[in-house]
Amino acid sequence: MSKLSQKHLLGIKNITKADIELIFETAQNFKDVINRPIKKVPSLRDITIANVFFENSTRTRLSFELAEKRLSADVINFSSSSSSVKKGETLLDTVNNILAMKVDMVVMRHSSVGAPHFLAKHIDANIINAGDGTHEHPTQALLDTYSIKEKLGSLQGKKVAIIGDILHSRVALSNIFALQKLGAKVMVCGPPTLLPKYISSLDVKVELDVQKALHWCDVANVLRIQLERQQIKYFPSLREYSIYYGINKKMLDQLKKEIVLMHPGPINRGVELSSDAADSHHSIILDQVENGVAIRMAVLYLLAGATG
Ligand code: CP
Repeated sequence: MSKLSQKHLLGIKNITKADIELIFETAQNFKDVINRPIKKVPSLRDITIANVFFENSTRTRLSFELAEKRLSADVINFSSSSSSVKKGETLLDTVNNILAMKVDMVVMRHSSVGAPHFLAKHIDANIINAGDGTHEHPTQALLDTYSIKEKLGSLQGKKVAIIGDILHSRVALSNIFALQKLGAKVMVCGPPTLLPKYISSLDVKVELDVQKALHWCDVANVLRIQLERQQIKYFPSLREYSIYYGINKKMLDQLKKEIVLMHPGPINRGVELSSDAADSHHSIILDQVENGVAIRMAVLYLLAGATG
């Protein structure tokens, strides 16, 4: 079996183009499996996986759980809101207690940047980062780039605009790394207050005008305004944000070109995307969700075979 170069999947920054291509190839096989009448394979039947979520999630958590069950792994789920974290237990104690139950892999979402990297230094199990604060969300970037490849045939030379709240987005950073490794050209677009200062060091185009970004790109990946991470006001109101940065179907139709519309979810309908755009023929948002299961099956399967 081919293996990834890493024992953990902590981010896209430190994996190779060959790793990404291996994940895509493996995901393609699993996509065929999950579209068969019998959707399950025995690949991980000796493996126990803990989904440890210290932050809310719908897509990522369900997608990982389904991927694990499709691979016949034993699965346990942990949610901080109903756990002894509320009684003051530390992250390391919590995870070590879970591992004492003979868990092989940990899928973790945490609000703190670097939480999965910290764990990886202290425990033996394979760690998969399911989103750490504003830092990285590697499986989201893998399913996003896989979905673009599926739609357009290749990433090489394709123009991808990431539009919205770049400052607070872990999806943006992981997507930038993945798109660049796969040969795409990347633009970020949003209000100046929602563009991080370090963005110029990432070799991406920066655009403040959403119309210009839409004219430039083959793919628009639209991000949510992450109000839960905003302690100060970065723009006057959601209504004003929607007027200047919201995307509707008329704007897409008027481009008179093929454009692929993406969103990692959850969508704030009427803020960054109108319903008629989100549900239009331009959108591959639900394809992204479908591909998420195959991508996560591939990551779990390949990491289970990694020696570290
Ligand atoms: N895309 C994504 O991470 O969604 P969830 O927060 O619902 O997992």
